[in-house]
Amino acid sequence: MPTEPEIIYLDNNSSTRVDPEVLEEMMPFLTSRYGNPSGSHRFGTRVKEATNLAHERVAAMLGCEPNEVVFTSCGTESDNAAIHSALQMSPDRRHIVTTSVEHNAVLNYCEAVVRRGSQVTVVPVDEQGHLDAEEVEAAIRPETAVVSVMWANNETGVIYSIEKIAAICRAKGVFFHTDAVQAVGKMPINLARLPIHFLSLSGHKLHAPKGVGALYLNKRARFQPLIVGGPQEGGRRAGTDNVASIVGLGKAAELAVKTLEEENSRVRALRDRFEKTLLAELEDVQVNGDPRARLPNTSNLAFTGVDAQAVLLKLDQEGICCSLGSSCTTGAIQPSHVLRAMHFSNERARSSLRFSFGRFNTEAELDKVLDVLPRIVRKLRQLVAT
Ligand SMILES: Cc1ncc(COP(=O)(O)O)c(C=O)c1O
Repeated sequence: MPTEPEIIYLDNNSSTRVDPEVLEEMMPFLTSRYGNPSGSHRFGTRVKEATNLAHERVAAMLGCEPNEVVFTSCGTESDNAAIHSALQMSPDRRHIVTTSVEHNAVLNYCEAVVRRGSQVTVVPVDEQGHLDAEEVEAAIRPETAVVSVMWANNETGVIYSIEKIAAICRAKGVFFHTDAVQAVGKMPINLARLPIHFLSLSGHKLHAPKGVGALYLNKRARFQPLIVGGPQEGGRRAGTDNVASIVGLGKAAELAVKTLEEENSRVRALRDRFEKTLLAELEDVQVNGDPRARLPNTSNLAFTGVDAQAVLLKLDQEGICCSLGSSCTTGAIQPSHVLRAMHFSNERARSSLRFSFGRFNTEAELDKVLDVLPRIVRKLRQLVAT
């Protein structure tokens, strides 16, 4: 098998490397243990035992019951399924409350249901990326079916007051969904004490493969599936189980629980050294998002006066991966909707890069990045000045 050239991967919010222990646990289900878990022979029921264990492991990570976990194909599907169900279960309520910094998996789904006659209120954030829970409360109307607020932002890492917002939704009698795709595996979550109806997560953000996700579905929440067919996942998500990936997500959840504390403090130290050094070495660098309420692995920085795309390309040539504070939509570079929602200028958004650290990053990698990145920024600034 061809090997990848040496890279320094600082794009863990985009996707993560599959943990070797996860892969090892998946392999039998891609080779010898290929039975359908819905089969009634022993070959199938032994596979079913493995998917049952995955339910248990994900439930242990979330602090919920195994049958409250429904495996899906990705975080996007989980987000769509939660909002879809809330609207279906409240036919007389056609209003959704969400925020301006959600992932497109939520925002574009909301846009799609608006085209079918629903209404959406998008609650703004401030310059730090924070959301005012009172504004969320004020946006809820008698015809609101569901409130959807992410637990942590994928671009800035800003963490939201999910406990507070969940309590508001309970008091108002509306469904509450949280997109926890970036939070799960990076911060402790205990759903046993929280009035949350739906929570979305995605395997490839926590060292499981791409193409598997899960939806936490509170056992008291009424639910209408998005994908209808066979009886899989208790009739809540039809389609033959993606067994190997479900097993992988289960293992990834077990590893996340085991390593969370230690991993987080190590990764936080890497991220903090990265920021501290850059802020000391370079002028005019701003941290995007409240540094006091962020995921431990995320650093979103604006390098005033430089085109972030040029920095990204130069870093890429050095084998360093990160991502832009903007996205490529239909061939044109658009400033990130998250940074724009934080009231930043197009210029600031276009000079911003996201660096997201993870389990496999090392101090030696950081040394190299801290050697290369300031030189690139200085050089590009010189070019602009001449
Ligand atoms: C916050 C958030 N929600 C949803 C998603 C979509 O997850 P998936 O790629 O599994 O569809 C992502 C992926 O980047 C994300 O960061």
